[in-house]
This record gives sequence, C-alpha cells and structure tokens, in this order.
Amino acid sequence: MLLNASGCLDALTAPETARALDAFVTKTVTPLPRAGNAPIRIVETEAGMLNSIGLANPGRERFLADVLPRLRELGVPIWVSVGGFAAGDYAETCEALDGIAAIELNLSCPNVDAASESAAEIVAACRTATDLPLVAKLSPAAWDVAEHARAVAAEGADGLSLVNTIRGLALDETTLAPRLGTAVGGLSGPALKPIALAAVHACARAVDLPIVGMGGVRTGRDALELLACGASAVALGTVLFSDPEAPVRMRAELAHELAARGLGRPEDVVGIAHEDRLRHRKPLDLARKALV
Ligand SMILES: Cc1cc2nc3c(=O)[nH]c(=O)nc-3n(C[C@H](O)[C@H](O)[C@H](O)COP(=O)(O)O)c2cc1C
Repeated sequence: MLLNASGCLDALTAPETARALDAFVTKTVTPLPRAGNAPIRIVETEAGMLNSIGLANPGRERFLADVLPRLRELGVPIWVSVGGFAAGDYAETCEALDGIAAIELNLSCPNVDAASESAAEIVAACRTATDLPLVAKLSPAAWDVAEHARAVAAEGADGLSLVNTIRGLALDETTLAPRLGTAVGGLSGPALKPIALAAVHACARAVDLPIVGMGGVRTGRDALELLACGASAVALGTVLFSDPEAPVRMRAELAHELAARGLGRPEDVVGIAHEDRLRHRKPLDLARKALV
C-alpha cells in the first residue's frame, strides 16, 4: 500500500500523482487558517531538505467546505491529517469529519508549538470524538518512540505513521546566518531513512498496529527496507517534489526488488528484518481493513 506523506503532495494540482496512490493524505488541517512561518521556508542541504512551513493551511471550515469535496472527486481514499494546539482542537476536527478512509493525527510537527497534552491524551480525546480509523503520526526525536507507540495504542489508535521530520539547521556559507526564516526546521529526505527504519523496527516490536513507514524513501529498495522493518504501508514525501512519477516508479522497483529475492508480494516481506520475523503480528489483511 502506497501513500503520500502529509504536506508533500497537492492532489488538486497533481491529480494524476494522487491517483497513482492507494490513499491520499492531506496537508495537516488546523482549526483556524494559518499562513505558516515567515520565508525562507524550504532549503536544500547536502543531507536532505529542511522545511519550516509551519502548518500553512486554510483552516478547518474552509477545508471542509471547499477542499475536501474537491479531493473526494479524485476517486482516491482520503486520509485527513489533523493538527492543533490542544487536545480539544484535534477532537473537534475529528468530530467534524466523515466519509473519509482515515484520520492521521499529526502529533509531531517540529515547526509549531506542541499541544500541552501528551500524544496519548490527544488520541484519547479523538477516540471519543470519532469512529473513523485513527493513525497516530509520531516524532522520531523521542528517545524511546516505542513507548509513545504503546501509549497511543492503549488509548485506541488504529495505526501509526512513522516518522515525521526531525529538527535540523543549515547555515549560509558566506554569512553563517541560518538559512531558514525560523532558523530551525524539519529535516526530511535521505538522512531520515535510517532513523525511520529504527523507529519502525522498534514500534513494530512494541505494538500490534499497522504502520505506515516514511522518511527518505526514494526507491523501491527503500520501500522494501521499511516493509522488512515492519511497516505494512509506505509513504512518499520529499521525493514527490522532484519526481511526481515516483508512485508508479516505486511500484515497479518494489516488484523488481521482490522478484530479485524470490519473494512474491510486498506482504511477504513485512517484518522479515526481525529475527522472529514478527510472527506474532496480526495478518496484514486485518491491518489493511483497519486503515482503509
Ligand atoms: C514541505 C514539507 C511539508 C510537510 N508538511 C507536513 C504536514 O503538514 N503534516 C505532517 O504530518 N507532516 C508534514 N511533513 C512531513 C512529511 O509528511 C514526512 O513525515 C517527512 O517529510 C518524512 O518523509 P520524507 O523524508 O520522505 O519526506 C512535511 C514535510 C515536508 C518536506
């Protein structure tokens, strides 16, 4: 199962890319409109991309009235990414949503102030607000991300998205001033891949929830490695800025990687990086139903 990473694809301007996915994940929606942070908001570094977008979005009311109806016309299952600054913000948006495949709770944006409640408390508030599948998107910056995974699972999360960006800083070569308007931003792209693999590996052992793996995926081999660590779906982020054909390419490359190893379906690879091959996990079919 292939998705985009939230904030990395505008399905309304690139509908063909969105249609090549199994589900489209929206940019994070907050209760009120947000202009986002001051420019410069994106810079390239030698190790990946730094962004400090700061959750720029039209806000809940306009999203529900204008954006979501147009996204529905794409004919692709929609996951809405929900953000906020308090558990109540998240829960209110969850309550207002229906007719979508899943809600991804952005519990990990490095570019805005975090809610005062814990990720688990936010999931608990959302659980009472909706019956839709809730996918908790966690930060790889936590020392023990598996502990957070256990906490959100205990409060009723149906899946995990791993990982969000991690804080980074880039300096101008000449002035040595920070290149981003906010100085620090979220690092994505290739540098994130080993971090994402470690987070997926740890969480797959900790909880029996389906995991959407992301972070630096550029090739079918990258996707294969996330599956091997225990992800049952893969999301494409930064790669989509330079390669809108990535979903189609990725499927072909993944099929090639599987065939080269004598493996049949992507499902056959899930968890094989683990010594016990995660045999204790629920079958993937159940995981799939829970999410889409
Ligand atoms: C420009 C940009 C905007 C992003 N916006 C969001 C967002 O609104 N919500 C969210 O949960 N993650 C957001 N992310 C993080 C991605 O969804 C993803 O977790 C991260 O980029 C790691 O994947 P990648 O290395 O393949 O890009 C954003 C990333 C980038 C690069």
